[in-house]
Amino acid sequence: MLIKIAKPSDVKPSEITPKSLYLDRRRFLKTAAVAGAGVVLGTIAAPAPAHAARGPKLEGVVKSKWNLETLGEKLTDYDAITKYNNFYEFGTDKDDPSRNSGAFKTRPWSIAVEGAVEKPGTYDLEDFIKPHALEERVYRLRCVEAWSMVVPWVGISLANVIKHFGPTGNAKYVAFETLLDPKQMPGQNRRVLKWPYKEGLRIDEAMNPLAILAVGLYGEAMPNQNGAPIRLVTPWKYGFKSIKSIVKMRFQADEPPTSWNEAAAREYGFYSNVNPTVDHPRWSQAKERRIGEFLKRPTLMFHGYAEEVAHLYAGMDLRKQY
Ligand code: MTE
Repeated sequence: MLIKIAKPSDVKPSEITPKSLYLDRRRFLKTAAVAGAGVVLGTIAAPAPAHAARGPKLEGVVKSKWNLETLGEKLTDYDAITKYNNFYEFGTDKDDPSRNSGAFKTRPWSIAVEGAVEKPGTYDLEDFIKPHALEERVYRLRCVEAWSMVVPWVGISLANVIKHFGPTGNAKYVAFETLLDPKQMPGQNRRVLKWPYKEGLRIDEAMNPLAILAVGLYGEAMPNQNGAPIRLVTPWKYGFKSIKSIVKMRFQADEPPTSWNEAAAREYGFYSNVNPTVDHPRWSQAKERRIGEFLKRPTLMFHGYAEEVAHLYAGMDLRKQY
C-alpha cells in the first residue's frame, strides 16, 4: 500500500460440509498448534532465509470447486507468496514481514465475537475453527498496488462461521480487528496507520460463498507473514480488505471504520472492489502485474469473480462507492 504520509518522521509511502470431510479435524488442530509453538523459536529481524521455513501440513483439507482446474491459471510460487507481503505491523517493505515475524506468537489465540449475535463470546481458535470444513480455495489476490498472485488458500467459509454464531436482525455489517501488540509487532510503534488494523464487510458480502477465513496456504499452516493464525480472504476486493491475524469480529448496524479509509479516504473506500474502470487517484487500476510474470495483464471487473458477486452491488454507483 502506498499512502501520502504527512509526517516525514513516518515511514515511506456451502453449507457446512458433511462430517466425513473433516474427520481429521483433531489432527489438523494438533499440527496447527505445533505451527504456533514452532514460530516462537524464531527471532525478530533475522535475515530472510534463502528458503522460507515451511509450516506443518494441515490434515483433513478438502478440495473445493474453487480449484486450479476451474481457475485455469498457474499458482504463484510459495516463495513469492511468503516473501512479498504487506503486513505493516511488521514493517512497510515487502520483505519486512517475512524477516520480522519469525517470533510472532500465534498460540494460544482467541477471537472475540461481539455485538448483534446470538452466541457472543471469546473463543479459542481451535474451538472457533472446529465446527467447519477446511477447504482449499485457489483464488486470485489483487493488491491495490496493481500486482497480483494466485494463492492456494486453506480456510473455512466465513458464511458458515457467521451462521454458527447466529447474527441478529441488527447485524448489517461485520467489523474485524487485528491483534494490537506493539511488543510483538514492531510496526505498531510507528504511526503509519491507526492501530489496530481494522476492516469490515457488509453482512451480505461476508455471507458470500467466496469469502473465507484462511488458516493456511499450499496445504500448510499459515505463515506468520501471511496473517497467521487466521485472516480474511475476499478475492473480489483489493488485498487490503484481507485483514490478517484477526482477534475480533463484531456484528453491528453501522458501517465500521476501516484503517485505510481512515488513513486516506479519497484513495481507499469502504467497498474496495477490484474495478479496472475506477482509477486510484494516483495510478491506473486497469492492469496488473502477476508476480512472476513480465508483461502486465488487464485487470478484470471484481478480479474475475463478477458472476459470484456483481449482484451484491446492483444499483450502486461504484465510482462513488469505491
Ligand atoms: N492486515 C494487517 N493486519 N496489516 C496489513 O498491513 N495488509 C493488507 C492485507 N492485510 C495488511 C493486512 C494488504 S495491503 C494486502 S495486499 C494483503 O494483506 C497482503 O496479503 P499477503 O501478504 O498474504 O499477500
